[in-house]
Amino acid sequence: MSAASPLTPHPSPVITIDGPSASGKGTVAERVAHALGFHFLDSGALYRLTALAAMKAGAALDDEAAVARLAAGLPARFGEGAVWLSDEDVTEAIRAEAMGAGASQVAALPAVRAALLERQRAYLQPPGLVADGRDMGTVIFPAAQAKVFLTASAAARAERRYKQLIEKGNSANLIDLVADMQARDARDASRAVAPLRPAPDALLLDTTHMDVDAAVQAVLAHYRSKL
Ligand code: DC
Repeated sequence: MSAASPLTPHPSPVITIDGPSASGKGTVAERVAHALGFHFLDSGALYRLTALAAMKAGAALDDEAAVARLAAGLPARFGEGAVWLSDEDVTEAIRAEAMGAGASQVAALPAVRAALLERQRAYLQPPGLVADGRDMGTVIFPAAQAKVFLTASAAARAERRYKQLIEKGNSANLIDLVADMQARDARDASRAVAPLRPAPDALLLDTTHMDVDAAVQAVLAHYRSKL
């Protein structure tokens, strides 16, 4: 258990960046963390790793007790741009579309979210943290100094994901991507626990017509305005 309540002011600054899938928040969050020399939490990776661990263990993705047990003991390591599950480099494996969908499924289970809660808060270390996810500003770090909700139109997001997949040499179908993305957004936004939604005090940043640099600058300006 962490000593401090999440609502008492954090000892080090936290910037939360939440938003739907493929909104570009991961890239923006990583760049903001780099610019400030802060730590970076990719909370979606923890849900992706949980889905992967469940698949490997042969657990059904809706078996809440079994998946929560796996999440609580997740043998995950991050470093050098790579993600490891036990001794296996799963950097690429967790980025597959199927793992995003699996992550969204296990993320709807309250016991799984509870199992990952303290692990996420433990990322807050000096000199500060940029946390990327769906509920960073609403549930995990509600006392964050600066909160951003990053969006883009569904068409723009599907197109970005399409380009990423093609660049990596994967095949992709834009129509399927839009459908998958809408299904994932609907599940993430409608679940009972920690649904995808902006914190009341979040800056809404629509990046449909904005490049990554402009989005990074907007987040940094928002953070500085809060100091
Ligand atoms: O950000 P991402 O695409 O890697 O996230 C994968 C899934 O994990 C996403 O569809 C919903 C879930 N997720 C979540 O519920 N809460 C978070 N803080 C981060 C991700």
